[in-house]
Order: sequence, then C-alpha cells, then structure tokens
Amino acid sequence: MQKVTLKKAVFPVAGLGTRFLPATKAQPKEMLPVVDKPLIQYAVEEAYAAGIRHMIFVTGRNKRAIEDHFDTAYELETELEAAGKQKLLDLVRSMNPGDMDFSYVRQPRSLGLGHAVLCAEHLVGNEPFAVLLADDLMVGKPAVLAQMAAKFERVQQSILAVQEVPAEQTRRYGIVATEPEVDGLMKVVKMVEKPAPELAPSRMGVAGRYILTPAIFRHIRNQPKGVGGEIQLTDGIVGLMAEESVHAYQYDGKRYDCGSKEGFLEATVELALQHPEVGAYFRNYLENLQIGWSGKERRQSSPMPLAD
Ligand code: UTP
Repeated sequence: MQKVTLKKAVFPVAGLGTRFLPATKAQPKEMLPVVDKPLIQYAVEEAYAAGIRHMIFVTGRNKRAIEDHFDTAYELETELEAAGKQKLLDLVRSMNPGDMDFSYVRQPRSLGLGHAVLCAEHLVGNEPFAVLLADDLMVGKPAVLAQMAAKFERVQQSILAVQEVPAEQTRRYGIVATEPEVDGLMKVVKMVEKPAPELAPSRMGVAGRYILTPAIFRHIRNQPKGVGGEIQLTDGIVGLMAEESVHAYQYDGKRYDCGSKEGFLEATVELALQHPEVGAYFRNYLENLQIGWSGKERRQSSPMPLAD
C-alpha cells in the first residue's frame, strides 16, 4: 500500500459561539485572544507543526475577521516598515510564512459539526485530512496533531484524540469504548455523542482533533440528524467504523476547553504565566493578589468587587 501523508486541515469555525455572548455577537469566537494570539492561530500553528500546509476554513456569517487575520495586512506592514519596527513586522509576516494555502467555504447555517465538515468535501477531495476545533486549545510537545500525524503515517486510518474526562462531564463529549492496540493507539469499538454518565461506555472523551479518511463524507451525507437536531460528526464516524478501523489516541499534552468561559480563563492564566514578555510580571501580580479570600468575604468587604 502506498503511504499517504496528511496535507490538508479543516477548521470548522461556523458555530454561533453562544456561550461567549455578547463577545461573539459581531466577532468570531475563534478570534478571541489567549494573551496575545487568537485561538484560530494556535490551531493553524499546530496544523503547520504537523506538516500540513493547506488550511481550509468552514466559515459563516461574522467570520470575515478570520480571513483578514491570515491575509497580508498591506497598510499595517507599510506603516511598521516606515517606522522601522522590524520585530513587529516580522511577527505580522510570520503568521503566513508563504508556504501555506488558505481556502474558505461558507456553511450557510449552523447545522452541526458533521455538516460543517461536509461543506469542505470539494476542497479536501479524496484524501485523508485533519479536523481541528480551534476552541480546544491544545498545548503539547510535539504538537498534539503532530503526534497524531506520526501515528497516521503508520496506520493510514482515522485517528481521534481522546482524554479521560470526569464522569459528570460525559454529556459534553463524544465518548468512545476502546480495545487495546499497539504503539499508543486503541481501537474504537463504540462511540456515543454526549451520553449521560450512566449511559457512557467509558470516560474516554474525544477532544477537538481528528484525522479522518475521505470515506467519512459519504457517511455524513447519508445520515439523519442526531443529538440536538444537528448533523453530528460522531454519527458519521460511527458509520465509518462499520467499514474501516478507527483508532483513539490518548495524546501527550494539555487541552483547554476555550469554548467555555472556565477553560478560556484557565488557558489565559496558564499561558500568561509562560509568556516570555509578561510571564514574570503576571506571576508576581498573582502572588500578590489576595486570592486567599473567599468570594463571600470579598463581597462583604467590598460593595463593588469587580470595579476596584
Ligand atoms: P460548539 O459545540 O462549541 O458550538 O462547536 P459553537 O456554536 O461554536 O459554540 P456555543 O456552544 O454556541 O457556545 C464546536 C466547533 O464546531 C464548529 C464551531 O465553530 C466550533 O469550532 N461548528 C459547530 C461549526 O463550524 N458549524 C456548526 O454548525 C456547529
């Protein structure tokens, strides 16, 4: 069998981002910055680290900022050049090193993640591809998708990134049951979208990184609506499992669920602490912050706790 290398990544960014309203009323959730970089850029950099050079975005209304972000900023670059701000100029240009292709396709309505992936079919064609959900910010060394791409080189079949999740959180994830395999992979034998804890086949939840074979498109196209009335990617993967092996990979790294306020705040604090420019300042700031106070004490001591 001739080995295929991953060349394309799909970024579904057409969701409504309702958990971040009002911030996401007129701007994409994926453009929210963690410290100084938008979520979508972390995801694109991860795909780049996995050797992928063709980035395909499935966008919707109010997502123009994503296209602009990866486009040449001619006026900004001219101004920075004229002002001799070479470091900033290099930073702006580094976002698109010139060896990447960007394609955009619109998902006319938020009909679900599976539907969003299907919208990219004509750009992906008949080859395996990665799917990255930018609101799952992954920190890993090597990058999580690069770890998965290395596994894909060997098996040439679909791979899902998984992590153990708390029992009470199974409703937030696609949950898989697996059988042991070799080389850090597990064989997926069952997959259920957002099950109640008592119905979950395990506590292995799928994180927002997938490597899929193109057969997935046929399954998504032919499936009925699933959980929440949406065309679910999980249901397509279940169909795929009937004809070829799908693997789970417990990645080495940390995932921040930046689609939720809690996860977004955790990512902001932890990445700020590691940031070369502001990390030392921020650590000092946190150390001096009187976070030993409970919320109750704080409310009692200050009538306007958020305004001080
Ligand atoms: P989420 O489940 O986080 O939905 O989608 P959402 O709409 O973005 O956010 P909330 O729940 O309303 O706050 C997971 C990923 O799938 C994409 C989203 O953009 C996000 O990256 N998605 C979801 C689509 O592209 N299209 C859809 O129809 C649904």
